Amino acid sequence: MQYSEKVMDHFQHPRNMGEMEEASGVGTVGNAKCGDIMRMYLDIDENEIIREAKFKTFGCGAAVATSSMATELVKGKTVREALEVTNKAVMEALDGLPPVKVHCSLLAEEAIHAALWDYAEKHGIVIEGLARPVNDISEHEEAAEEEY
Ligand code: FES
Repeated sequence: MQYSEKVMDHFQHPRNMGEMEEASGVGTVGNAKCGDIMRMYLDIDENEIIREAKFKTFGCGAAVATSSMATELVKGKTVREALEVTNKAVMEALDGLPPVKVHCSLLAEEAIHAALWDYAEKHGIVIEGLARPVNDISEHEEAAEEEY
């Protein structure tokens, strides 16, 4: 299996790893198939711009690398722009992932969505295009795997 240099870099030196006290939104998702879990914390200002993002994961190396890159990509974006940080966008930013590891990147995307959902609920706002997050992404994963 071949990992890109960027994947190795983000795996070995993860950015934004840790917890956040008083986050604006927190989301936790898991994948029942592999047992990996990811928690995402977002600090969002009054203009709905993501100031900080942090993550914690009990997951594989690809999950660490994609979460690290995903937190880098959402920082500075508005909550709506953050929806464009899809797993595909994260994988592109990492110069790709081996096909068997693509599902790991969904964990990061869903964790961001879950944190945004939490933020929206707490503030009584609706983020257009944001669907209610699932706790277990392995349901989504089957749809994604069909592409391979
Ligand atoms: Fe579970 Fe990578 S093997 S997230």
